[in-house]
Amino acid sequence: MRKKLVAGNWKMHKTRKEAADLVCAILAELGGGSSCDIAVCPPFTALDTVAPLLKGTPVALGAQNVHWEVHGAFTGEISAVMLKEIGCVYAIIGHSERRQYFGETDQTVNARARAALTAGLLPIVCVGETLAQRDGGETEKVVEAQVRRGLADIPADQWSRVVIAYEPVWAIGTGRTATPQQAQEVHALIRRIIAEMAGATVAQGLRILYGGSMKPANARELMSRPDIDGGLIGGAALEAKSFVDIVRASA
Ligand code: PGA
Repeated sequence: MRKKLVAGNWKMHKTRKEAADLVCAILAELGGGSSCDIAVCPPFTALDTVAPLLKGTPVALGAQNVHWEVHGAFTGEISAVMLKEIGCVYAIIGHSERRQYFGETDQTVNARARAALTAGLLPIVCVGETLAQRDGGETEKVVEAQVRRGLADIPADQWSRVVIAYEPVWAIGTGRTATPQQAQEVHALIRRIIAEMAGATVAQGLRILYGGSMKPANARELMSRPDIDGGLIGGAALEAKSFVDIVRASA
């Protein structure tokens, strides 16, 4: 049985003060524990502020990107070792906004994912088709290529720490969610591809999150589908109550 994961992707939101306030509000709203894994991914500048607040709580820390080298002349980049030191557990990799605005490719996604794994982080590798690709009947082809290239050459003993997020680009920040059926179909496809790449046991254990306008109102139905193992939440993660409502909907 896969343990669900609900992760908040805060994107470029929240100063350090606002980040601390949001984390405190999330923890208060959560009360005790939770049956699922939970993570928040603030901007880099707030990681060090949030990390001590999360110590000993059920909420883990994640980053929104990670570079593939340990150190070097890579202005503006942050390495996995640096993120580990701060206390990060997860790193989002290959989000569609990075692919769209910052030239991220399947090759760089792959390099980042492998570096994250080497450093002991859990990569949340994002894949998903654009609206034009869906309308053109290319969803399966696009997602398959992203999965195969983005997760190429993962060492066998590291697969158990990989998380995939299926985020149809047309559903991100648009209020337009994939139907549970649409999402389930792609999640099942991803699991079949992983079975081919890494074997049935890895595929059965791998968590595949859905992302794209997941809200308290649609979270339960999405996460009740057999291959949807949680959510990567954007807008609804910026408010404690809606984020925790989604966490509860995963139970
Ligand atoms: P959204 O974003 O929930 O605001 O659609 C999800 C994401 O981009 O990870």
